[in-house]
Amino acid sequence: MRLIIKQTKQQAGIFAAHEIASQIRAFRPTSNKPFVLGLPTGSTPLITYAELIKMYQNGTLSFKNVITFNMDEYLGISPQDEQSYHFFMHHYFFKHIDIQKQNIHILNGMATNPEKECENYEKAIQNAGGIHLFLGGVGEDGHIAFNEPHTPFLSRTHVQQLDKDTIRVNARFFNNDISKVPTKALTVGIQTITDADQVIILAFGPKKAEAVRAALEDDISENCPLSVLRMHRNATLICDADATKKLSSQTKALFSKIENS
Ligand code: GLP
Repeated sequence: MRLIIKQTKQQAGIFAAHEIASQIRAFRPTSNKPFVLGLPTGSTPLITYAELIKMYQNGTLSFKNVITFNMDEYLGISPQDEQSYHFFMHHYFFKHIDIQKQNIHILNGMATNPEKECENYEKAIQNAGGIHLFLGGVGEDGHIAFNEPHTPFLSRTHVQQLDKDTIRVNARFFNNDISKVPTKALTVGIQTITDADQVIILAFGPKKAEAVRAALEDDISENCPLSVLRMHRNATLICDADATKKLSSQTKALFSKIENS
C-alpha cells in the first residue's frame, strides 16, 4: 500500500480528488463501459467532493457514465431525513454534478427486510461488474464504512450494530443528542471494499492518528479494520500531517521510500 502525507487536509482532499479524476478519465467510461465508484459520507470527504464538483463545473470531468455505490446508511432513517446518508450525498455531491439518477446506489435504511437489502446490494455491485475505485474515510477506532473493530475481513454487505464509541462520535450530526443516533446501520463489508480494484482511504486530523498508527504499525488484525489496507494490491492511505503524528519516523521513512523508489 501507499501512504501519502500532505501538510493540510485541504491539500490531502484535493490530491484525492485529482487521483479519482485521473482514474475516471483514463478509463474513458461510456454507457456500455461505466466507471464504478464507491463513495463515503462523513466530514472527511467534503474537500474531495468540492474539488470534483469544481472539475465538473469547469468541464474537465464528467460523471455521466459513472455508477456509484455508497458505503453505508443508518438503519431506520428515511432518505428524506437530513441525517440520512442519502440526503448528505445529494446535498454535498450528486446535485452538483451530471451523474444520472439511475446510476446512484445507496443502501435503503427503511428497507422492510434489511438483510435482503444487503444481499441485493452485493448483487447490484456484481451486476455492475465490481467496483473500480472505493473511496472511504476512517472512524476514530479504525472502522471503515460502518465495519466496527472485529468485523471479519471476509464480511460482505450486512446489518451492523454500532459500537458505543461510534454512536458517541456521530452524535455531532444529531444535535449532540446520543439518544437520536441510530444503533444499527447497513454497511458494505470489508471484503466488499477490498474487492475493489483500487481503494483510497482518507484520514484527517489528530483524532484519526491512533487509528492510522494501529493500522500501519500493529499487526494486521480485525481489531483495526483499517489495517486490511496493507493486504490490498492497490490501496492508498491519504493523510494530513495531524493524522500521522503518532507514526514513528521509521514508518514514515519506509513509506516515503516506497513513494520515491
Ligand atoms: C462514519 C461513517 C464512516 C466515516 C466515519 C468518519 O462512521 N460511517 O464511513 O468514515 O464516520 O467520519 P468523519 O469523516 O466525519 O470523521
